[in-house]
Amino acid sequence: MSNTMQEMQTDIGLVNTIVARSALSFIDGENGVLEYVGYDIDDLARNSTFEETTFLLWNKRLPSRSELAEFTEQIRTNYDLSDRMWDIIVSLPRDASPMHALRTLTSALSLEDPGADDPSEEANARKSLAMLTKMPALIAGFDRHRKGLDLVRPDATISLSENFLYMLNGIKPTERMARAMDICLILHADHGFNASTFASLVTISTLSDMYSAVTTAIGTLKGPLHGGANQVVMIMLQEIEGLDSVEEYVMDKLAKKDKIMGFGHRVYKAYDPRATYLKTFAEGIAEDTGNTELFELSKRIEQIMDREVGSRGIYPNVDFYSATTYFSLGIDLDLFTPLFAMSRVSGWTAHCLEYLEDNRLIRPRCDYVGPHQQEYIAISQR
Ligand code: ACO
Repeated sequence: MSNTMQEMQTDIGLVNTIVARSALSFIDGENGVLEYVGYDIDDLARNSTFEETTFLLWNKRLPSRSELAEFTEQIRTNYDLSDRMWDIIVSLPRDASPMHALRTLTSALSLEDPGADDPSEEANARKSLAMLTKMPALIAGFDRHRKGLDLVRPDATISLSENFLYMLNGIKPTERMARAMDICLILHADHGFNASTFASLVTISTLSDMYSAVTTAIGTLKGPLHGGANQVVMIMLQEIEGLDSVEEYVMDKLAKKDKIMGFGHRVYKAYDPRATYLKTFAEGIAEDTGNTELFELSKRIEQIMDREVGSRGIYPNVDFYSATTYFSLGIDLDLFTPLFAMSRVSGWTAHCLEYLEDNRLIRPRCDYVGPHQQEYIAISQR
């Protein structure tokens, strides 16, 4: 039974509202803890793979060795796109933004799926697998198309991370590069009811379909207050002229009440646990690839932010050090957010599958503050 309008609480931005129960990720924002199904994010980043983490999110338990082998095989045999999808990729305007392209191409996957509207659990699991496994080809394929390079078909003998870098660059990545990419995918895989996950749930709660839910989520992730922040972090790092300019740059932004991208979080008021791990990792990758100056810039920004706003619980979030990591891996700035989507698709689909187990239409109210009883004046008299 719903409350009357008088009994309802207004909560702009849903800051203090819990909209559903979930057993997928646990976030303790005060103490900087993130767990997927009870497993600490640090443990998963150090020891797991993106494939295993996805199994965990989809099944709410770790796989046995044979289950993981079978799941990995299923993933690999689904990497490739149909000829028609490759044709769609090369028909896109070369100057389109990769996030717009990814949103369109993910939506296009539904066009050739005769079961796109099949609501059964099996069909939804199949569609989740299709989007997870094909997103690397969609992103890498579009990037090569816009650069006028030949498309690279996937290699079904390697991991999803390796395969993505292979399709993007046309050469197999080093083990360290592939591991860096895999860790980034693990760290971004799920995060409670963030804006894009919530958006996907709104869509699936209408009993629409999984492709529509993920397409909605991609559009939501794109914004600079959410997944789009990693790209803006990199633009900021490139704007700063050197270590000596950092202080002035940050203080000037703060004085103008501008946000420093890659800092702050709706839930974390302590250090984002994903950033803790990425920071150490980004340092190693930056050293390996000759990008230490960039890492030093990031560290300096963090020191100044800590001094100025740390006491207000504003710390680096996952986007801050993922920007340096992706840049060191030689990835174009405007692919940073598509990479986030390539990982988060595991969380979006996990949440949709979970929500559908006990679906309820998500339909909040608004507090109407407009006029009443206005007199309608005929158009001829206005
Ligand atoms: N730089 C400077 N000040 C900040 C920052 C920041 N990055 N983040 C928050 N603040 C300040 C705000 O100016 C505000 O100050 P005020 O109370 O004096 O007005 C206060 O902290 C609260 O900020 P809100 O934006 O109201 O907090 P909210 O919970 O709505 O926003 C958000 C969280 C959107 C992430 C915010 O911190 C932000 O815009 N950060 C920069 C963008 C970013 O990095 N986004 C990625 C988030 S992580 C992710 O999506 C993967």
